[in-house]
Amino acid sequence: MATHQVSREVVITVDDLKKAFGQNEVLKGITTSIHRGEVVCVIGPSGSGKSTFLRCLNLLEQPTSGKVVVDGVEVTDPDCDIDKVRADMGMVFQQFNLFPHLSVLDNCTIAQVTVRKSNKAEAEKRARSNLERVGLLDKEAAFPGQLSGGQQQRVAIARALSMEPKLMLFDEPTSALDPELVGDVLSVMRKLASEGMTMFVVTHEMAFARDVADRVIFMDGGYIVEEGHPDEVIGNPQHQRTRAFLDRVLNPTSVGQIGGEDEAYAERHQSEPEADGDGDISTLSPGQPGQIGRST
Ligand SMILES: Nc1ncnc2c1ncn2[C@@H]1O[C@H](COP(=O)(O)OP(=O)(O)O)[C@@H](O)[C@H]1O
Ligand SMILES: [Mg+2]
Repeated sequence: MATHQVSREVVITVDDLKKAFGQNEVLKGITTSIHRGEVVCVIGPSGSGKSTFLRCLNLLEQPTSGKVVVDGVEVTDPDCDIDKVRADMGMVFQQFNLFPHLSVLDNCTIAQVTVRKSNKAEAEKRARSNLERVGLLDKEAAFPGQLSGGQQQRVAIARALSMEPKLMLFDEPTSALDPELVGDVLSVMRKLASEGMTMFVVTHEMAFARDVADRVIFMDGGYIVEEGHPDEVIGNPQHQRTRAFLDRVLNPTSVGQIGGEDEAYAERHQSEPEADGDGDISTLSPGQPGQIGRST
């Protein structure tokens, strides 16, 4: 059970958010809000629009219509200073997107210096304190290629935290990791949640969602099908689509025949172009400056 404090203050408001890629309407009207200190986990099948939803929150994707307000600033207003809004939103991706040619410490300071305009000494102090938070202070001189995937992801979290964000967005942060490396990353996220960080987490880790989330959103086909306390959405889902999804995720071997998943996928995406699976980082290659400077 989540033990952290959720305030009544709204940090993000999403109102009738829609997003189409050409003819393919991926988000069909999403309305929800996130409160200060709240941990919201988004679950749902591949291709249901989870990553697109998250990326619309900081305009990594430009919504087709609808409104997103972050901390009182309407990010969907063309006049909004999106770089400033992005600097307040830490983002952690499935692929860690660290700069391979920079040390762990430099990965954690570069955006502080270039975007936050911190001086180097301050930036290094903050970076070290966040590396300590994720248990990697002893790796500050290492390069990403010398670290395990789990360690790289923890560096990516330390890097995001070093910007002192108001909230953190995570897009399947453990999906690219070997199973034995998942636990350390989830522990770091669990600790962040208990410290009061506002977190929006797309994940397939149902145990994490159940234990840590204040609220779970189940998405399918570009809609929020149901949302609520994890004991309800995961423990006692009301909708057939939620039950079917959870059944597939929680009992993967119970899908009677090979290819059953493919059929279910095709059914949900009738008349849509071939989806590229979790094509959520397609526009962001490792080491691309936009990642760190959040100025894409
Ligand atoms: N940049 C893009 N261009 C075109 N189609 C996209 C793009 N990003 C995502 N899509 C499509 O949007 C749908 C939802 O994708 P996504 O938000 O990544 O789903 P999820 O994260 O739930 O797996 C998919 O059909 C995907 O192919
Ligand atoms: Mg995705």
